[in-house]
Parts: sequence; C-alpha cells; structure tokens
Amino acid sequence: MASLNTVLVPLVALLVTVASASNFYNDFDITWGDGRAKILSNGDLLTLNLDKASGSGFQSRNEYLFGKIDMQLKLVPGNSAGTVTAYYLSSKGSAWDEIDFEFLGNLSGDPYILHTNVFSQGKGNREQQFYLWFDPTADFHTYSILWNPQRIVFSVDGTPIREFKNLESVGVPFPKNQPMRIYSSLWNADDWATRGGLVKTDWALAPFTASYRNFNAEACVLSNGVSSCGTTTSPPASTSNAWFSEELDSTRQERLKWVRENYMVYNYCNDVNRFPQVVEPCTVCDAGSNGKAHLSVGAEGQNACHDSLAGSSMLVKCLVFFNSDFLTLVQPPNTLSAAKLSPMASLNTVLVPLVALLVTVASASNFYNDFDITWGDGRAKILSNGDLLTLNLDKASGSGFQSRNEYLFGKIDMQLKLVPGNSAGTVTAYYLSSKGSAWDEIDFEFLGNLSGDPYILHTNVFSQGKGNREQQFYLWFDPTADFHTYSILWNPQRIVFSVDGTPIREFKNLESMGVPFPKNQPMRIYSSLWNADDWATRGGLVKTDWALAPFTASYRNFNAEACVLSNGVSSCGTTTSPPASTSNAWFSEELDSTRQERLKWVRENYMVYNYCNDVNRFPQGLPPECSMS
Ligand SMILES: *[C@@H]1O[C@H](CO)[C@@H](O)[C@H](O)[C@H]1NC(C)=O
Ligand SMILES: *[C@@H]1O[C@H](CO)[C@@H](O)[C@H](O)[C@H]1NC(C)=O
Repeated sequence: MASLNTVLVPLVALLVTVASASNFYNDFDITWGDGRAKILSNGDLLTLNLDKASGSGFQSRNEYLFGKIDMQLKLVPGNSAGTVTAYYLSSKGSAWDEIDFEFLGNLSGDPYILHTNVFSQGKGNREQQFYLWFDPTADFHTYSILWNPQRIVFSVDGTPIREFKNLESVGVPFPKNQPMRIYSSLWNADDWATRGGLVKTDWALAPFTASYRNFNAEACVLSNGVSSCGTTTSPPASTSNAWFSEELDSTRQERLKWVRENYMVYNYCNDVNRFPQVVEPCTVCDAGSNGKAHLSVGAEGQNACHDSLAGSSMLVKCLVFFNSDFLTLVQPPNTLSAAKLSPMASLNTVLVPLVALLVTVASASNFYNDFDITWGDGRAKILSNGDLLTLNLDKASGSGFQSRNEYLFGKIDMQLKLVPGNSAGTVTAYYLSSKGSAWDEIDFEFLGNLSGDPYILHTNVFSQGKGNREQQFYLWFDPTADFHTYSILWNPQRIVFSVDGTPIREFKNLESMGVPFPKNQPMRIYSSLWNADDWATRGGLVKTDWALAPFTASYRNFNAEACVLSNGVSSCGTTTSPPASTSNAWFSEELDSTRQERLKWVRENYMVYNYCNDVNRFPQGLPPECSMS
C-alpha cells in the first residue's frame, strides 16, 4: 500500500496523452439554460444564448490533470454591455483550483475586457485584465490554456498574454493535484461587468449569442483516479507530449512583454493599495517576463515588494518571485527543499483501500456549507441561515443544486416537502450521480399530479451508464403536506431506498452474477425541480398549469454519514481493518427481519411498476437480478 497522498506524483512524467478530436456531442454536456445552449453542425459548433430569463452553459465530460487546451470563441457582437462570457477550467470542492478567462462585454465599438485569474486551493485574487488587439466579435479567435507542472500560460491566437509560474518552492500554491473540467457560460452580470456596473444590459437586443468551435485538448484525462498519461517516471516518450514541459521561448517572451506593455488594463501585482500586507503580494505576484522591471519599479518605491527589502525573510521570496535568475543567489537553505517528491504509488490502487473504513464524515446540515446552487438564475434559494432550501419552477426555467462533496458510499438523508396542489407536469428529482459516460446513479424522482391525485415516486439505479431498473411507488401519506425523510443507504453490499425509515427498495450487490454494482465512482448529490409535462403525469396527458407557477419544493435536515472523496483520497481512511467504531455500522448495514417485513408491505400495497415484472420489455429474458428478488 502506498500513501494516498502520493497518488498524483507519477504524473510528473508522462507516456501517453489524449488528443481529443473536436466534437461537442462527444466532449461536452450542456448543463444549464433550458435549451439556450445548442450543439449545431453535427457537433462542430456550440452556441450559448442569454435572454432576460436565463443564460446558459456547458462543461466537459472529461476531467483533466494538466493539458494544452484550445477553444475558438466568437463573442457576443454589437452592444454586449452587461454580458459576461466565462470560459475556464475548475476543480471541485472548497479548496478548488481554477484557471479563468472571462470576457466582459461593452457598448458597440468599445473594447471588451479579457479578465484572467488563477485560483489555487480556493484562493484567487490574482486578476489580470487586458484589451485585445482585434475585434473578438467579428470572427473566431483561439483562446488557449497551457497547464503543466511548471507553469500556466494564457494565450490568444498563439500570443501569450499571461504566465503563472509554479513557485511552490517559495510558498505559492500551484494547481497540480486536482483534476479540472472545462466550463463555459454566458450570463448577465450588469451589476459589475461593464464600466464597473454603470452600463446595463439592453434586453431589447436579446438573445445574446456566443459561439464555440475547434475545441482541441492534448491533455491527461483522469478517469476513476487513473490518468491517461500513465504511471511511470520515465520522460515523455513522444514529442507530442512537448506541452508537458513547454516553456516560453524568447520570441514568445517578447510577445508577452508586448501584450503587457500595450494591452494590460489591470494587474493585481501593481495594486499596492489592495495588498497592505507586504508579504502577500510578494508571494502571489506573477514572475512575468519583466521580473527585473518589477524590481526597479520597487526601487522607486511604487511596488509593495520593495517595502520588504528591509531584511525580512520575505525579501527572498520577493526577489525569487520577480526574477528567477536571482533564485540560486538568494535562496535560503530550507526554502527550495520543501517540495520533496514522495515514493511512487500505482494509480490503480487508489480506490481499493476504500472497501474498509476507519472514519466517516457526518455532515451537520447547512445548505450554505454543503451545497451549491447550480441552476435557475435565482429560482433556487437558501433560507433561514442555511437550514432551508427551496427550488422554484416557472415557465422560463426550473432550478437545481448539487453537493460540494463527492461521496463514495454513505447513508444520506434529506427531508423534502413536495410541490403542493396541482403539481401535474412537474418533476422533483433527488439523486446521487457520478460523472462520465459510464456513470453510476441512484435516483428518487417525484412525479407531480393533479390536486388530490397521488404523486408517483420513481426510483432507478444506474451502473456504469446502464439504468433500465425502474420501480415506482405511491406513498402512504400526502408528501406535500409536510416534510418527510428520503434516505439512500449505499454500502458495498447494497443500496436501500427508504422513506421515513421504511425501506421501499433494496438493490443488492450481485456482481457475483454479473450484475454491475456502483462501487468505484464517487457521486455527488443533485436535486432539481423541472417541467416534464411531456411524460411525467399520466404519461404526458396532463400538462403543467403555468397559471399556478411558481411551483416550489423545499428541503431541510440534510444529513450524511459518508465517505467523502477529495483529491482521490477518502475521508474513510486507507486500512483494511474493519470499521473501528459503531458509527460506521451503515457500512455493513443490512435489512433485519422487521425492515424486510416493511419492505414487503410497501411492495404489496404501494408498488405501481417494477421492471422485473415487465416481461414485454425484456424479450430476451428479465435481467439476472430479477430472479433474486
Ligand atoms: C468599455 O469601454 C470603456 C470606454 O472605452 C472602457 O473604459 C472599459 O474598460 C471598457 N470595458 C468594460 C468591460 O467596461
Ligand atoms: C396521477 O393520478 C392518476 C389517477 O389517480 C394515476 O393514474 C397516476 O398514476 C398518478 N400519478 C402520475 C404521476 O401520473
């Protein structure tokens, strides 16, 4: 066994990278905007649209850990004031990494601002802004991110505009352990984007459209904690991996300097007033190409770093920072040795230790801490100091949220109060899901109905991208009158769906019979309220009555006893001994005879549909697990 913390170390050397041929259908998922994001031209073109009701967005299917990623964008033309087109890489969690391009719109003829930022472990505050040397709305231009272990380089049409070097040796965190996805969105930010919020979006011009094409990634794709770039320490085998150690040659350094001198609008490193603590700007400023220039600026008393020249140890950091040539001269003995390489671990062993646990995480319920609102442009709300969350649906859009954490096994409770009255056509989905094309998923879906007619509680289990295991139930109470607890127990032996403690469905691990079981991919919690009146109520016969909108579902008392996965490391520990404490009883929990009786009662009295009884649907024979229940 290797320490899990060393998992990502082998990536410092690569064998095989993945070059994706560009097709938006294959590489991206539209995640937001209720039809406002469109993939066109057989996958060659993607457009995002923004109107008064909502913006739109997409994200990559893959997660990358290092890469050279190109995208061509054509920005919102004409009067784009108030709109922002964000295109960025980001990891997840509260200590996330992020590499940002943001395009701030402007009045016709006035220049866009290209805003950039780098977050490491949840800390950003490293903004640099630029004008462009062309009209970014007249045609497509290429915006590139080079991200390798030594540096991040932002380029536009091949011209570098910003370099953020790895200066971990002097205490500056650098994004290198967390895989990132590509995200993009077009949204309204007229409270700040254009001339600081003075110029508002002109909705008479909506919809606003930004277009994307020619995505290309030479990159290490991470899947189940395993990198496509391999595990050995030998240097890259082929020249196609040159990006992994790419640096700026003197020609490109000259170009960078030209951009900085002529097009840079804002640089946090020059913003002395913003960083009254001398140490911080010194340790976060980009080295850039003109390190010596920074020093001389400092010598004139205009640079914060100069103030620290009085002999503190931070002096070293400043000098190292601004001029890497200086590094060997001023390095104190113990600064650079901090970045030690750890022993090698096989990437394939990452998830194995999770079959046994030591410590699980019990989250105290607070929606502010545990969830992100991901969808609905204000229609999802966290209320009562984080104790309550409401989702709303109106004709323009639904809304949704997702957990910050990713879980690999757990016992997860949530209380829901569903849309009351005539909820026909609406669906409230509450589920766990992993990512990727072979995803796992555990679903509760609540199908609304006319007033007085019963909701259907629809359940499903996906393993490795395959579902088709629907079971549906009526409930033995009115789920709109009050909150009720909906629970998912997910351990290596079984998945149990429960309502107010009564099990309604058990999905056993029958891998021994060839039935895939979700156990290798971490899942997030997702929920959304949306319009599905094409199928939800009486098979689509009853439509949503928009006169009754907005429709509202409410959530409270979230509780998770679960293994939280972060950077491929589980909070449940790494040993193979059995759980140390009884609080981990859920990890081997099964249904005792009382609960088996309850399950039988539900199945006999409230089950509406069971795929295992649907002989017509499976002409080749029922799925193997059906013979076991
Ligand atoms: C918009 O144009 C004004 C006037 O040229 C300029 O000051 C500003 O930086 C431009 N960009 C944004 C996003 O405000
Ligand atoms: C809605 O009510 C009808 C009539 O009771 C019933 O057949 C149906 O299953 C209920 N639920 C849904 C989601 O259609």
